[in-house]
Amino acid sequence: MSSKKTTPTRALDAVHKPSKEFSSKARIPSMAAYKKLYKESIEKPAVFWAREAKELVWQKPWSKVLNWKAPNAKWFEGGKLNVCESCVDRHATGPRKNKAAIIWEGEPGDKRVITYGQLHKDVCRFANVLQKNGVKSKDRVLIYMPMVPEAAVAMLACARIGAVHNVVFGGFASEAIIDRLEDSGASVIVTADGGWRRGKVVPLKPVVDEALTKCGQVKRVIVLNRCNHEVQMQPDRDVWWHDEVANASSKHTAKGFDSEHPLFVLYTSGSTGKPKGILHTSGGYLTGTYSTCKYIFDMRDDDVYWCTADVGWITGHSYIVYGPLANGVTQVMYEGAPNAPDFGRFWKIVEEYGVTIFYTAPTAIRAFIKAGNHFPAAHDLSSLRLLGSVGEPINPEAWNWYHEHIGGGRCPIVDTWWQTETGSILISPLPGATPCKPGTATLPFFGIDAAILDDAGNEVKAGQDGRLVIRKPWPSMIRSIYGDKERYKKTYWSDYPGIYTAGDGARRDKDGNFWIIGRLDDVLNVSGHRLGTAEIESALVSHPAVAEAAVVGRPDEMKGQAVAAFVTLKSTHTESDALLIELRNHVGKVIGAIAKPDDLHFAPALPKTRSGKIMRRLLKELVCTGKISGNITTLEDVKVIEALQSKLAK
Ligand code: WTA
Repeated sequence: MSSKKTTPTRALDAVHKPSKEFSSKARIPSMAAYKKLYKESIEKPAVFWAREAKELVWQKPWSKVLNWKAPNAKWFEGGKLNVCESCVDRHATGPRKNKAAIIWEGEPGDKRVITYGQLHKDVCRFANVLQKNGVKSKDRVLIYMPMVPEAAVAMLACARIGAVHNVVFGGFASEAIIDRLEDSGASVIVTADGGWRRGKVVPLKPVVDEALTKCGQVKRVIVLNRCNHEVQMQPDRDVWWHDEVANASSKHTAKGFDSEHPLFVLYTSGSTGKPKGILHTSGGYLTGTYSTCKYIFDMRDDDVYWCTADVGWITGHSYIVYGPLANGVTQVMYEGAPNAPDFGRFWKIVEEYGVTIFYTAPTAIRAFIKAGNHFPAAHDLSSLRLLGSVGEPINPEAWNWYHEHIGGGRCPIVDTWWQTETGSILISPLPGATPCKPGTATLPFFGIDAAILDDAGNEVKAGQDGRLVIRKPWPSMIRSIYGDKERYKKTYWSDYPGIYTAGDGARRDKDGNFWIIGRLDDVLNVSGHRLGTAEIESALVSHPAVAEAAVVGRPDEMKGQAVAAFVTLKSTHTESDALLIELRNHVGKVIGAIAKPDDLHFAPALPKTRSGKIMRRLLKELVCTGKISGNITTLEDVKVIEALQSKLAK
């Protein structure tokens, strides 16, 4: 995969120790310092986490750091805070008032710098707008926005008034909006006409309009004019962002809410067709995101930090909005695609703003490798001091390329393992302390009691595979699946009593490093995005031509995993190339473009057990190896698999 021009300076599995220069300035400068603090954080979690939480603004101190009745945690019980005060107000009223909070660049090249002072005014104005439009504490607000500062402003304004935001990724289709509206009961939507992506306007408001023809509960839609794109405004329901803020006061009192007050719901794929609303609350979530930014990204006042995620994913929530702003850092936010107009765009941005900390996903790194080394080589990337990776295991080739071509061989790479449910990073190197090996997320963060268990609940030996679990609660942990406490218990806490199961397989090496193998459930990781196989199957089956569908993942060099789908048509329909295209587009329409199957095969029948269960294991083997060598004794009809095998061989 890597270009032949790359000189292999090191073996793929070399150990990279932090440089003396980096360590000497880092918050955690050595393994001894890490071990000491880790020990305290595990033996006396209340002491460790109270110290971290005290660095935030509280309106009323807590009476108890942790109240734990598995699987229900209350962190900083009795405490009251307004999350927005820690992220915005305290910087806006102190020496950081005129410091850039967000340096934003639109895809067409338009630029804005928003200081903490300005951000404070913007958030206060929008908080007043939300309240004027009837939004109250605990009401849900659906946010469907491009990557513009107003997305962060809308989230923070919700937090400020105690409303619960539900950000929906701008690439999702109208059906996804309907599902989320129905589940969350949101009655206000914040959106935009569209956003710029690869030179085109991706429309957003029309997608909302389409959703609202089938869902009547929404009373107000607030629309940002980002692209001057024509949209239909429905009188009595739709209002313009600019009209609303023009009349709103920039003063707003930040009321204190209970530490366990809900902050947001973010939907993510599980192993059933219905996405789960992951519920996060206030004090603990903010403590986790704040603390991990401080230690793992080693954030300082003179840093220029850039996380390339979208605010529609948990990475955007924790590592664009809450964690970095709570640290008062300057960050870059970019609207568009990495290859607009070409694959040099990211590196141009790094050079222009002097980015020091850069956080991206392995899938992006692999796309950069493919595009060629000349893109980063054309830019001065010497401002960078630290790199990060998230979303899927980073393969050693990609790690080494990132290290050499982006980090100039000098920047540590933090490979950060976490999930929507965990709220913040749980396993990662600390850049000034941990020796890094390409491909491992290394060691648990402070307070995180991570382990790998076998089916019986025993810890496995070094080198053996098992299930990744967390044995102690942590502040930013999921509190529930929105509206479904039973599903919460069953999904995460039922494999082993009182222990959180992440759904990932993993192993540890002799040095204790965690190597994440991948999902153990029916969840695919496509370009670092979680997609449930059942979700894609139900999208396919919702097409009138489809009788049955089965979806499996297959390894893909660029995306990590690709989506392979098998469909059986109803007898009223016939196979054709046009139908294949239509079915792919149908999935795009129901879920969003990221879920479109990469391979789509017509199957006269699907392999099933005698009890009628689709044997996805066999389909997986077939798409990965082209043949079936595994056990087929439970298969009802061997001919089905033979027919598929010869079909795929063509
Ligand atoms: C995977 C994204 C290996 C993992 C923050 C996890 C990773 C799922 C890593 C969560 C990593 C995330 N190494 N695998 N550094 N980071 N994953 O909820 O399978 O979108 O369970 O959260 O991504 O995906 P989610």
